[in-house]
Amino acid sequence: MVIQTDFLIIGSGIAGLSFALQAAAHGTVAIVTKREIAESATRYAQGGIATVFSTEDSFDAHIEDTKIAGAGLCHEDVVRMVVEEGPQTIRDLIDWGVKFTTTTNGDEYDLTREGGHSARRILHAEDITGREIERALVEAVQQNQNISVYEYHIAIDLITCAKIARCNVENNCCLGAFALNINDSMVHTFAAGTTVLASGGAGKVYLYTCNPDVASGDGVAMAYRAGATVANMEFMQFHPTTLFHPNAKSFLISEAVRGEGAVLRRRDGVAFMEKYHHLKDLAPRDIVARAIDNEMKIYGDDCVYLDITHEPSDVVRNRFPNIFQTCMEYGFDMTKDWLPVVPAAHYLCGGVSVNMDGQTDIPGLYAIGEVAFTGLHGANRLASNSLLEGAVYARRAAIHAIATASERKVHAAGSIPEWDSGTATNSDEMVVVSQNWDEIRRFMWNYVGIVRTTKRLERAMRRINLIQAEIDEYYWNFIVTSDLIELRNLATVAELIITCAQMRKESRGLHYTIDYPERDDSSGPKDTILKKQFA
Ligand code: SIN
Repeated sequence: MVIQTDFLIIGSGIAGLSFALQAAAHGTVAIVTKREIAESATRYAQGGIATVFSTEDSFDAHIEDTKIAGAGLCHEDVVRMVVEEGPQTIRDLIDWGVKFTTTTNGDEYDLTREGGHSARRILHAEDITGREIERALVEAVQQNQNISVYEYHIAIDLITCAKIARCNVENNCCLGAFALNINDSMVHTFAAGTTVLASGGAGKVYLYTCNPDVASGDGVAMAYRAGATVANMEFMQFHPTTLFHPNAKSFLISEAVRGEGAVLRRRDGVAFMEKYHHLKDLAPRDIVARAIDNEMKIYGDDCVYLDITHEPSDVVRNRFPNIFQTCMEYGFDMTKDWLPVVPAAHYLCGGVSVNMDGQTDIPGLYAIGEVAFTGLHGANRLASNSLLEGAVYARRAAIHAIATASERKVHAAGSIPEWDSGTATNSDEMVVVSQNWDEIRRFMWNYVGIVRTTKRLERAMRRINLIQAEIDEYYWNFIVTSDLIELRNLATVAELIITCAQMRKESRGLHYTIDYPERDDSSGPKDTILKKQFA
């Protein structure tokens, strides 16, 4: 079946839904999403969304904090634009129905603090900010007649004119995407004038992650295969504090808990962050995650502890109701107990390279949110800048895509080929998928994690090459399933991360390698750029 639409959006987090709401006033919109519409990384964001809303704060201070966290790699023009357009973008969210927490007398928004921020500037909805944003945007989308939502559909590949031999790679353009309906196993062709990747990050490439299962790097992998430039994939951010418990699936303990006074301790009670940074527990995230990793290695411990027991218990309960309740379910009362915590993969700072309007280098293809590399985060993202980036870029990309839509055509059924399964048969060996899935995630954690070495990266590269060959052979012989699509994407993303990590011969921000422990500014800061070479 061919589905024609003016705007095709792949993903349904803050970026995809915000874009959809704006584009829908100018054409038909189709949202393709792998699970039910509300399932996205946005939904799990706890801390909040950073912006300058207080008279005691300033754009310059937010810009400076973002640049310090970014360790010399932030693109200054992008940082300024995102910070300055932040307040207006957040007012749009409020107009769509997002309810942020207000102060006790209700006349101002309550602003919290997180690591690396020099001022209170994080708007939040209790400790479930993402859930509240997602609720409001989903409700607005569901009321909009111009938006069709395709749940349980997973994009397989972008359709480009180079791929269907309409033009050469240099004149490539995007015509839409193929997507598998997970429920009935049919592949549909989505023909679109504008295609938007808003598919989120790739935390699932690591064994331990606080990302939801949908974060398998699909957008980055599809864009790379289609010929788009990707950049800075070595910068995977590890969140310092996820709950250490066999059944907790790396449940996030928001940085806002440290923002409100929590202290990291070793098993023997020693508060260790002072040793690593003058901001102690509120140091930038890369430093806190590495400090925890180091303490665990030195003392042979499985975790460290987060202690907020000195704060009044009603304050903790009221400020962090979701974290409090979830920890109670695992047997920890955070008003009395130290919480056992470990770092886990959290946020991809690199991605599909875009300009200030969210355009990739394939005409007709935009990328917004975590899937995109904009230059905002540099080598390490400042806490709560990601929801902001997603919303600001959705707005800019929508304005640009609407203004230029008449330059692009929605192809009619029959003028672009439909999905061809060839001689593929049903697989009777799903074990190949689960074996490779587990193997990738484990060696990425062990060899391409918080602390890297040249040898570990070489080992990882050897393994991913073998696995890629096996997946390729398997992929073309068997009918596609969502597990196979995700595995192929995960393998591509793993390869891109390892390649970028090997190219960066220094330690900077989130990329730390024992073999090049210093930051190298001798030839100026550089992004790591990758583009697929077609034969
Ligand atoms: C958190 O609540 O700690 C996560 C916030 C973020 O990653 O920006």
